[in-house]
Amino acid sequence: MFHSNDPILDCITAGKFAGKFIIDIQLNGKLGWFLMEATSPALFVATILPPVYQSLTSLQPVWTTTQTVLSAMWLTHYINRSTIYPLRAHSMSPMNILTFLSSVLFNGANAYTNGMWVAKYGSYPDTLLEKPRFWFGVALWGAGWWLNIHHDNILFRLRCERQVKDNQKRYSIPHGGLFEYVSCPNYFSESLEWIGWAIACYPSPPANVFVLATIANLFPRAWRSHKWYKQEFPDYPPKRKAVVPFLF
Ligand SMILES: NC(=O)c1ccc[n+]([C@@H]2O[C@H](COP(=O)([O-])OP(=O)(O)OC[C@H]3O[C@@H](n4cnc5c(N)ncnc54)[C@H](OP(=O)(O)O)[C@@H]3O)[C@@H](O)[C@H]2O)c1
Repeated sequence: MFHSNDPILDCITAGKFAGKFIIDIQLNGKLGWFLMEATSPALFVATILPPVYQSLTSLQPVWTTTQTVLSAMWLTHYINRSTIYPLRAHSMSPMNILTFLSSVLFNGANAYTNGMWVAKYGSYPDTLLEKPRFWFGVALWGAGWWLNIHHDNILFRLRCERQVKDNQKRYSIPHGGLFEYVSCPNYFSESLEWIGWAIACYPSPPANVFVLATIANLFPRAWRSHKWYKQEFPDYPPKRKAVVPFLF
């Protein structure tokens, strides 16, 4: 198991970078993952429920199809991420309590601000459904979502094969799909997903902040992972980048 030289990062990460520092309380991987990710759909639903209810009960509907499409995008991602993802994972590494708490905060803030914007502060009339920009955003989100699941699946298979073969957790070099170009295509596609979301929601300050926060979170993580792969595997494909094909 790899340990970085950075005690702060060590103490707040899991999996390849799990470490013991500052606070060494570990949660069950799958349960911790479910609880931290389920914060997001739960809070998002709480923010959209009042206007949906108002729309259903008043004579003048206030909830639009555009808002339904946007809400479906958010909830589709997070139902997979919170529930289906941990159920499908062969195993998940224990999670440090600080990772858990910071992720609950991150997910909660993003879900609340994005939900409030879609439900109340933004303007999402159904005329947006005629705009190519809206559908471009939805399509980019859909492509990112599909690619994210595809590459998560490759890692799941690898984790499962390694554990069955060696009867212990080991890491190996992933192959297939965008893994031929980057070390972390799951992070790349997750970033595409949220860029698509921000385009569909335009102009939405919370969506823009969420994209920037996601990239600020996932790109350094990809870079560390990439560095780790190169240190661990002398035969690691030299042309593979960290997260953006051909660029970074
Ligand atoms: N929006 C955000 O800010 C955000 C933040 C974090 C994660 N995510 C998303 O959540 C998903 C999971 O992220 P993650 O950071 O947990 O992914 P990860 O570190 O790549 O791990 C995913 C799974 O694959 C296993 N695995 C990874 N590399 C492997 C290898 N080389 N050989 C064998 N097994 C390997 C891991 O096992 P171990 O558990 O044993 O390491 C784990 O079960 C991704 O789709 C990511 O995009 C999003």
